[in-house]
Amino acid sequence: MAEGSFLRFPDGFVWGTATASYQIEGAWNEDGRGPSIWDTFVHTPGKVCDGTTGDVAVDHYHRYQEDVNLMAGLGLNAYRFSIAWPRIIPEGVGAVNEAGLDFYDRLVDALLEKNVTPYTTLFHWDLPQALQNAGGWANRDICQQFADYAAVVVERLGDRVSHWITHNEPAVHSFLGHFLGVHAPGLTDPMATFQTIHHLLLSHGLAMKAVRAAARKLPEVGITHNLAPVHPATDTDADREAARRFDGVFNRMFLDPVYRGSYPEDIGRLLEIIMPKTEAGDMDIISAPLDFLGVNYYTRHVMKHEPDVFPLQAEEVYPEGREYSGMWEIYEPGMYELLTRLKADYSPGKILITENGIPVPDGKDFDGNVRDYRRIRYVRDNLVQVYRAIEDDVPVQGYFHWTMTDNFEWAFGHTMRFGLVYVDFASQKRTVKESGRWFAQVVRDNGVAPNASGPPFLPR
Ligand code: GCO
Repeated sequence: MAEGSFLRFPDGFVWGTATASYQIEGAWNEDGRGPSIWDTFVHTPGKVCDGTTGDVAVDHYHRYQEDVNLMAGLGLNAYRFSIAWPRIIPEGVGAVNEAGLDFYDRLVDALLEKNVTPYTTLFHWDLPQALQNAGGWANRDICQQFADYAAVVVERLGDRVSHWITHNEPAVHSFLGHFLGVHAPGLTDPMATFQTIHHLLLSHGLAMKAVRAAARKLPEVGITHNLAPVHPATDTDADREAARRFDGVFNRMFLDPVYRGSYPEDIGRLLEIIMPKTEAGDMDIISAPLDFLGVNYYTRHVMKHEPDVFPLQAEEVYPEGREYSGMWEIYEPGMYELLTRLKADYSPGKILITENGIPVPDGKDFDGNVRDYRRIRYVRDNLVQVYRAIEDDVPVQGYFHWTMTDNFEWAFGHTMRFGLVYVDFASQKRTVKESGRWFAQVVRDNGVAPNASGPPFLPR
């Protein structure tokens, strides 16, 4: 790695932020939008820790121009957002809601006017409730229904949008929404969980075909996975095996089908009774070549053997003496470890870091500034690891910070702030944080200074 004062990223490196429709838009029942499983979930008492909802979120549906102006003001050259299926086809199948398409038309045009390239995620968890009523992702019918929805979106936007992500984090939607029940649709059903995994991946393959068939501008299509290094709590066979099992379910259960056309054999043996039912041809559809892999990196997982924990006999531990954010351990070496592992094991042709960020308790100082120095240090340290990976020929071509504005953080409600831009949720007033100004400089410089000093980089 180039030592010294500055790490310059490759020319043309993409710098952006990432968001998700349900977390920012609000307008949950406006202009023909149908109810999603997240509307049902958050309107159920006790599901969201602070009792808040995404009914308004940060009102992006009405304030999108202001937010695009903020992106342009930071000099960002890309923006990753998701399309709300219930805005496009309120019942999931059938009638198309033109007003929903019109909103994303306006958003895409506003982005392009400011030279911000749209990267569009087709599904970021806000499934139409009507489809959940018919079995949701556990019902195989949804695979073609998702591809049909994708075609409707691409037919409207595909002349201006050429970067498409089919799914965001199938692992999180499957396990938190269908096994742990802490996300929508709030199920605790192991069989439904693994069938959901398969149908999310199968619908990804079908949607890739649909996007390429419908797009008028040559598209690139990928999928975004939330991936992490998995370490044993102690250097014992038992804990190493526990880490391998967790790696198999959290990482390889999603990467192997896409890149190898099969589910990991060790997991297939371990979880034989709940592994998904597949049909002839499914794995060929899932493993059709994709143009890039979206990687959401946040932290590592440390696992110990725990015989009583179903189904993996593995339990996560949180090492003492480490620094933690509001949700997980801060572990920047994991970014390099993950990226080099992906290159070694799966050889993706292109990688985009589609999410990376940190929830820290941001607040305004007496002068109205938000001096979120921990976020600046986290991003700088993670970018240094991305740079190291690029120097080792890992094909990373972009970085999208999670996230643009503080927003609705699922079951954490409005208690976790991830934004480069602070939002006063009562007034919806936006304030660019110190991290936003710092990141704007990173974009201008197309790089970072690994040994910078000054307030954001004061010793821990
Ligand atoms: C995820 C989702 C985002 C989250 C972010 C912070 O990765 O879980 O894509 O919607 O808000 O990651 O948890």
